[in-house]
Amino acid sequence: MEHKWLGAGLVAMGVVGLCTLLAGPGGAERTAPAGPEAGVVRVLPFPGHDGGMGVYEALAMRRASRDFDGGESLPDEVLGRILWAAAGVNRDDGRLTIPTALDSRDLRVFVLDGKGIWLYLPEKNALRFLKAGDWRAASGKQGFAGEATVNLVYAVDPSVQAGKGVPLEAIARNGAFEAGCAAQGVALACASEGLKNVVRGSWPAEELAAALDLPGGWWIVMAQSVGK
Ligand SMILES: Cc1cc2nc3c(=O)[nH]c(=O)nc-3n(C[C@H](O)[C@H](O)[C@H](O)COP(=O)(O)O)c2cc1C
Repeated sequence: MEHKWLGAGLVAMGVVGLCTLLAGPGGAERTAPAGPEAGVVRVLPFPGHDGGMGVYEALAMRRASRDFDGGESLPDEVLGRILWAAAGVNRDDGRLTIPTALDSRDLRVFVLDGKGIWLYLPEKNALRFLKAGDWRAASGKQGFAGEATVNLVYAVDPSVQAGKGVPLEAIARNGAFEAGCAAQGVALACASEGLKNVVRGSWPAEELAAALDLPGGWWIVMAQSVGK
C-alpha cells in the first residue's frame, strides 16, 4: 500500500489538483480515435429498482474472471447500472449506494474504455469525458486489462475527509473500505448483467496516475476490470 499522500500540504495539493482535474486534461498524450471533446458530459440511463438477478443468486455467481474478449464499450444502460451499483445516488438527499465515512462521498470512479477516460458523476449518473485514447492497458500490470471492455479505477480525494477533521491514516482505511463496497456492488451487478469482472490491486502506479492526471494527494485504492 502506498502512503505517499500522507504528507504535509495534502489538503492544499488536493484542492489544486481538483482544480486541474475539473479544468480539463493534460499529462501524457496517446493517439486516439475520434471521440467526444474533453468535458463533455454523457448522461447514462438512471437504473430502475426492479429487474436483474436477486441478490442471493448474484452472490452465488460472483467470481473473478480474466478472459475478456477485447470489446471496447458497454451499452449505456448497462454501464449506467454498473456505475450506479459502484457509487450511484440512491436517495433524495444525494446519499449513495455505498457507505462513505461521515457521508463524505469522496470515492471517485474513473472509467477507462476504448475511447478514453471518463469520471463518473454520481449526482447525474453521468460520465464526464476527461481525455481521449485507449488507456485500458495502462490501468493494469496484467495483459487482460487491455482486453477488458472497461477498467474502473477507484481513487480517494483525501481533502474531503481531511476537511472534516479525519486523521490521514483513517482516511486511507476509510477509502479502502469504500472502494471495497463499490467493487462488490459492481461484482454483483456484473453477475446480474452476465459480465465478467475482476478486482485488481496491481497497476503501474506512475503511468496510471499520469494517464488519469490524478490530482496531487489523491490515492488510487483499487482497479476493477469489467467486460465480456
Ligand atoms: C485486494 C485484492 C487484490 C486483488 N488483486 C488482483 C490482481 O491484481 N490481479 C488479479 O488478477 N486478481 C486480483 N484479485 C482477485 C483475486 O485473485 C481473486 O478474488 C481470488 O483469486 C479469489 O477468486 P474469486 O474472486 O473468484 O473468489 C484481487 C483480489 C483482492 C481482494
